[in-house]
Amino acid sequence: MIDTHCHLSNSYYEKIEEVLEENRKAGVEKIIISGCSKEEIKEAIDIANTHQDVYATIGYHPEEVNKVTDNDLEELKSLIKRESKVVGLGEIGLDYYYEKDNKDKQIALFEKQLKIAQELGISVVIHSRDAVNDTINVLKKYKVKGVIHCFSGSLEVAKEYIKMGFMLGIGGVVTFKNSKLGEVVSKIGLENIVLETDSPYLTPHPFRGEKNSSKYLVYVVEKIAEVTGKSVEEVELKTSKNAQVLFDLQ
Ligand code: NI
Repeated sequence: MIDTHCHLSNSYYEKIEEVLEENRKAGVEKIIISGCSKEEIKEAIDIANTHQDVYATIGYHPEEVNKVTDNDLEELKSLIKRESKVVGLGEIGLDYYYEKDNKDKQIALFEKQLKIAQELGISVVIHSRDAVNDTINVLKKYKVKGVIHCFSGSLEVAKEYIKMGFMLGIGGVVTFKNSKLGEVVSKIGLENIVLETDSPYLTPHPFRGEKNSSKYLVYVVEKIAEVTGKSVEEVELKTSKNAQVLFDLQ
């Protein structure tokens, strides 16, 4: 299994080495840490550079919109070029759930980072919350590939993203009792999905409420196997293959 999106940081976990060891024991072969603020970017790269099975995606989350300078974006670009364990740009995108009075500023930051991704030919990790129309309209302006992180939309929206060449990141939400995501996944199949936890958030059932970790990915896999009618092994193999291709993992 490959966890394509987690926030493995000292601000969430006391002992990162122990968490990594638990993940390995649970069958998680590779993880990709999402570093999406200045501090987290540095930390994600440090952890990736000291562990063979850890990679990083880096980029500025929409919540960082008031802090990010053009210099930061230049620095981001050179880090992506220089650091071989950085495999994607993100998470970047639009979040109108927390803040919708600054849409223009969010879109501007999003576009600046999409330009970098397009220029460097690196995959993007998209965060979109209560902003699906603007996200699609902005993405259509750029030639980028990537993943819609924590996808939880309708079948129509899923198909739209897939048509644009994106993968969907599926995590704990698929196991939630009231979620319609299982139905969507059953219809789109394994071809265009990758696994993710977004840990420490979005812990799958039956551990909902606890702190999430990549080791719980197996519950996401079991649910996807159930709704698609595939075996657990098939789900693991196909989603790992998808992740490997998308992020060019060695
Ligand atoms: Ni995240």
